[in-house]
Amino acid sequence: MSAACVVLLRSGMALLVRRGDADVWELPCGAIRAGETASSAAVRILREDFGFEAGPATELTRAGELIGVLVSGGAGELKPVRHAAMSWVESRRILERPLTAECAPIARVLAEHRRRERYKGTHPRSFGEKYKELAGDPLAAAKAAARGSTPAGAHLSVMKAEILEALSPLSGATVLDCTLGWGGHAEALARSAGPEGRVICLDRDGEELERTRRRLDAAGVAVVARQSDYADAPSVLESLGVDGVNALLADLGVSSMQLDRPERGMSFKADGPLDMRMDRSRGITAAQWLERVSRVELAEAFSRYGDEPDAEKVAAALSALAAAGRSPRTTAELAAAVAAAKGLPPRALRKKDASSRHPAARVFQAVRIAVNAERDSLARFLAVLPRLLRPGGRAALLTFHSGEERLVDAALSAQTDAGFWRNPRAAPRKPSPEEVRLNPRARSARLWTEVRA
Ligand SMILES: C[S@@+](CC[C@H](N)C(=O)[O-])C[C@H]1O[C@@H](n2cnc3c(N)ncnc32)[C@H](O)[C@@H]1O
Repeated sequence: MSAACVVLLRSGMALLVRRGDADVWELPCGAIRAGETASSAAVRILREDFGFEAGPATELTRAGELIGVLVSGGAGELKPVRHAAMSWVESRRILERPLTAECAPIARVLAEHRRRERYKGTHPRSFGEKYKELAGDPLAAAKAAARGSTPAGAHLSVMKAEILEALSPLSGATVLDCTLGWGGHAEALARSAGPEGRVICLDRDGEELERTRRRLDAAGVAVVARQSDYADAPSVLESLGVDGVNALLADLGVSSMQLDRPERGMSFKADGPLDMRMDRSRGITAAQWLERVSRVELAEAFSRYGDEPDAEKVAAALSALAAAGRSPRTTAELAAAVAAAKGLPPRALRKKDASSRHPAARVFQAVRIAVNAERDSLARFLAVLPRLLRPGGRAALLTFHSGEERLVDAALSAQTDAGFWRNPRAAPRKPSPEEVRLNPRARSARLWTEVRA
């Protein structure tokens, strides 16, 4: 498989290159190497073949099939190293050029693409206006990636290469992905397991599970997907007649798709009802939870689940609002209440870039963890983890905050002492600086791996 890089300028001009004298053009492309994703291959190809430091790449897919990667402009000058010529073409006119067969499908998508009417104001009225990538705009997606954000509606799988390495060999294996999400890891695991392998996927979010099931189906990736809490993995395996798996992944926390949908109420990025449930068919919403819990419980949740330094102050302010019947009902109201409790002006709520922390981020994380009883699920899952694996089976767990780290570390240490795991404990791995640059949401990831004795 090769990666084709579509280098696009804001004006909609795309880069074409030619190898010999014949009038046949191609989009910059090359082979994807072992351990690379299509996006990282595209970035490398541009560096090696053109001496060009490209911005982060966005995978461009149609009906689930990878057709190319969009790379927005970056630093440096394009200098073709292995090509006879390069040329810029308006993307809508790209099909007028004679193209190599490999690039034609991507070129067709570019040619069909019409830019949405540009929003001219400075204060977008709706989430859709602000996050154009939700409407399937590949240019907007590329621009979001170049800013260091995850394009809305997608999820960049974290430490994919390191996870595949830790869980391999996978050919013919039975694999359990406990947290399907967007399915990026599941897809890679299914491809590694091959036609003889079997990939069973769980997610407690039935809405996203359905979307991902359709996406993977369209991409020809066969997985068995079940809506379930990962703590209930033993009964799912039993119902499928599976007596232990060879490899298991749990990528904890929340997906970008959940964060990016305002109606899920998980993010301060857009106003929406304060819901935050991963499974909207059960349990109470975040708004109801905030109304019901005491100041002491709030403060404890903020400091235990969010490491919030102003836990007491924010808890006092929120419980005073609840007592006055003015508890926050929307994400914007919660963010504003947190800012006011911290003595910050409303403008502090406007996030400057993808790598800075929003003042309400820790409180939002803590409320989400409490509403979904995430610690409870994780503790129950960790207790059954060793018996989900066959002897020699490999486990990879990705944590994203100190609360998860503490639970995972304690459980794995105790289980190592009890002889469940083969290796002496090693420190968890961190994502590479390159991955963090391309996907700031990966910055707090820690990868814990074990082999079953
Ligand atoms: C970080 S995302 C997974 C992303 C996925 N690995 C990928 O490559 O797209 C985490 C997912 O875990 C799910 N999840 C969180 N807690 C869960 C639980 N207790 N049981 C099952 N799924 C859970 C969330 O709904 C979310 O879809």
